Order: sequence, then structure tokens, then C-alpha cells
Amino acid sequence: MTVQVVILAAGQGKRMFSDLPKVMHCLAGKPLLEHVIHTALSVSKTPPIIVYGHQGQLVHDALSHYHSKWVEQKEQLGTGHAIQHILSHLSDKDRVLILYGDVPLITQETLHELITATPQDAIGLLTAAVSQPAGYGRIKRNHQQNILSIIEDKDASSEERLINEINSGIYLVPASYLKKWVPLLKKNNSQGEYYLTDMIDLAAKEKVFIHALQVKQEEEIAGVNDRAQLAHLERFYQLKKANALLKQGVTLSDPARIDIRGEIKMGRDVSIDINVILEGQVAIGDGCVIGPNTILRNTVLGKHVEIKSHCVLDGAEVADHCIIGPFARLRPGTQLQQQVHIGNFVEIKNSEIDEKTKVNHLSYVGDSEVGKEVNIGAGVITCNYDGINKHKTTIGDRVQIGSDSTLVAPITLHDDVYVASATTVRHDVPEGALVYNKREECVKKGWTEEHRKNKR
Ligand code: UD1
Ligand code: CA
Repeated sequence: MTVQVVILAAGQGKRMFSDLPKVMHCLAGKPLLEHVIHTALSVSKTPPIIVYGHQGQLVHDALSHYHSKWVEQKEQLGTGHAIQHILSHLSDKDRVLILYGDVPLITQETLHELITATPQDAIGLLTAAVSQPAGYGRIKRNHQQNILSIIEDKDASSEERLINEINSGIYLVPASYLKKWVPLLKKNNSQGEYYLTDMIDLAAKEKVFIHALQVKQEEEIAGVNDRAQLAHLERFYQLKKANALLKQGVTLSDPARIDIRGEIKMGRDVSIDINVILEGQVAIGDGCVIGPNTILRNTVLGKHVEIKSHCVLDGAEVADHCIIGPFARLRPGTQLQQQVHIGNFVEIKNSEIDEKTKVNHLSYVGDSEVGKEVNIGAGVITCNYDGINKHKTTIGDRVQIGSDSTLVAPITLHDDVYVASATTVRHDVPEGALVYNKREECVKKGWTEEHRKNKR
């Protein structure tokens, strides 16, 4: 039997107090729903059916690149009502795995266990015993511990509210049962909604076996209904990622102060200081040291790279033994060859910089190709933009550029050029030449005293 995953994602999420639909709020930099889609694709080859509704177009457009089938639920009248919309898309032979767009951390392993452990003609249900069950549906069992029904928090008596086994909302149900029971659901409850949970009552009455699997970590089935729950799950997720890094041999100064928002590859003996954010696709080579308060986004670091504190690297490729920062910014298209040094308050964009070149203080290098063993002095600017177009700067090997010089692109400085400090270079400079601006230097003796006298 194929497992058809259905993801319910049509709800508004009133308790978020947000203009953004709840399932588009991010955990680890990725919409909640995207986490669930990833997991769905990992447990079944059949594309998942996603029920969307509230501000549905926005949700659909953001995630429609995934191999999935989108079904609109225009009015949101409850989880049972949502399932009504997809009944016609099910084949009787399917087993339907129902997931929630607002329950992001359910794992492939747990779902796999649910699928393999639930007999074909039974209902599988994920539950958890939790310390704070408020807000969740409670699992009602008889003396033999068989499940009788699920009672929603809002409909529960004070006695039922004491039950600490909660409904995850995640079920595995043969499609034929859904087709039989879902049309029978009624909305005679405190919220006036069609509750999918009422299906459990119908199943129990028909003596269908209900296999409940209790998850070990409650965060796996925790729903995000408000911002506090979102923050809690974010921290849970981050700590889990950090612990995995420690286990893998990465040194973290504080596992509670690193955030991972993407796919990370780590070499051996990497050391990461506090408040580091890794985003997108990041690869860090053997022996790299990352200083505190740094962001690496879509960046590749070779081996033994040292990133000092307060750096932002975005879309950069950095070869072995480079030293960067503190306070450096590498923007997309930056490629540094081995042993390049980039110092404080330096911004590099869309530029290739060859081996052993140094840009140590207060410079902007954009749209440039810089050779080997070049020294770029403090405050050097490549003027790459004329207000309409961007232009290229080419700098040969061993060029020495004096402080406070501006290079007006398009321009080429050939190998072994010297640029005197505070030069505005407007034209190409041939190999081995010195370039400087003729400007008279004037000294007025006794000027300061005169000046101060006049001010008094
Ligand atoms: C639901 C369960 C509750 C369970 C909890 C687990 C019901 C009646 N209750 O409650 O037992 O403990 O999840 O997190 O099922 N949705 C739609 N269309 C709708 C309504 C909801 O697609 O018309 C989607 C929402 O986007 C959300 C999910 O279904 O992703 C759950 O809806 P929500 O309103 O959050 O249900 P809970 O009150 O959390
Ligand atoms: Ca919920």
C-alpha cells in the first residue's frame, strides 16, 4: 500500500497575531511548512497533498517548487473539514499519513516507525505524555488502556484536562476509513468546527484497532500556535543541532549560542566561538577558527581559515589559511585564494583576490580582479559605479597601492605598479610604473597661532 501524506496548512493561526499565515513563520530560517514538506518527501515517494487556505496564494507561491499537490480549502471550518477537501484525491488502497503545517519537528524516524508498526487495517496515532498538556486534545483511554476518543482542550471537563497524554494530530489512516467517517463528522462542539479527532471515537465504536505510538521527545509533536511556542521550538532545534556538532568533533564555546539555519558541512577540529550564525549552504574546512559574533551565509571556507570577531561573509569562497576580520564584510562573488588577509572595516564584493594579497584596513574592493602579493593600503576604494553601470578594476601581481587612493573603473593596473598614497587613478597604468597626482603641498608657518587668536 502506498502512503499518501496529507499536510494540513490552511489555518490562519490567530494566536500568532500576525499578517503572515502561521505556516510561513520561520524556524531555523525556513517556513514551518517547508520543514514538514521535507519530512513528507523523506517518508513517501508519492507527492504530498497540501491543504492550503488562509492567504493561500502566498503560501502556495512560496513553496510550489516542491513536488506536491495543492488543494485549496477556502473556508477553514476545522481539521475534519480540511480532510473532506482531499477525499476525492485518495485511492482506496492508500494509507493516509496526516501531518500539520504547524508541527514542524516531527522526524522521519518516528513516522517510519509509525508506518511500519501500525497494522494495515488499523489506525496509527502519535501521542506524548507531557507536563503541560493545556491547549492540546487529550487521549481518553478505558481501563484496558484502549483508546476511546480524543477530547479537545476547549471541550474538556476539568477532570479531562488533567489527562497528560496529548494528541499530536498525526495519524496514519486507511483511505477507505477516512472516506467512511469524515463525511459523518459534526460540528456540535465549543468551536463549531468539524474536528478530525472525532474520527477516533467512530473508529473505537467500530472496534478498529488504534495503535498509539508515544514519542519520546514531546517537541517532536509540539505545535506552533503562538510566538512563545515558536521560540521554544527554535531553541530546541538549535540545541539539537549544536549537540550533533559537538558529537561530530566541533568545538563550540557555548552550544546554546550558535544558530544553524541551513545545511552545514564541517571539517575536523573546527572551533566556533559564541553568537555565530550559519545560514544556507555553509562548508567549513579542517582546522578553521570562527570568532564571536559572526555570520556565515552560503559560504565555503578552506582549511585553517581564521575568521576573527564580527564578520559577515555572504556568498564567499575562501581558500586555505586566509585571515579575515575583525569587522570584515565579504559579499556575494568574493573569491579569496590562499593566505589572503582581509582586515577591519573592509568590504569585498564580486571580486577575485589572488594568493597572499592583503587588504587590511577600511577599503572597498568591488567588481575587481586582484593579483598575487598585492598590498592595498588603508582606505583604498575601487570606484566601480558611475551611477548607471558597474565597471571592472584589474590589478596585477605585486602591485602596491598607497593609502587613501581611489581607482576609477574601468581600469587596469598592470604588474608591479606603485600607486602613491592619496592618488586618484583614472587611466590604465603600465607594468612597473609609479602613478601619482601632481598636487602642491603648501605649508603656512605660524598659521595655527593666527587662527586661534582670531577665534578668541
Ligand atoms: C489540533 C487537534 C488537537 C491536537 C493538536 C496538535 C483537532 C480538532 N485538534 O488542534 O487534538 O492536540 O492539533 O497540534 O484536530 N487546519 C486546516 N484547516 C482548518 C483548520 C486547521 O488546514 O480548517 C490546519 C492548520 O493550519 C494547522 C492544523 O490544521 O496546521 C491544526 O489546526 P489548529 O487549529 O492549529 O488545531 P489545534 O487547535 O492545534
Ligand atoms: Ca495547532
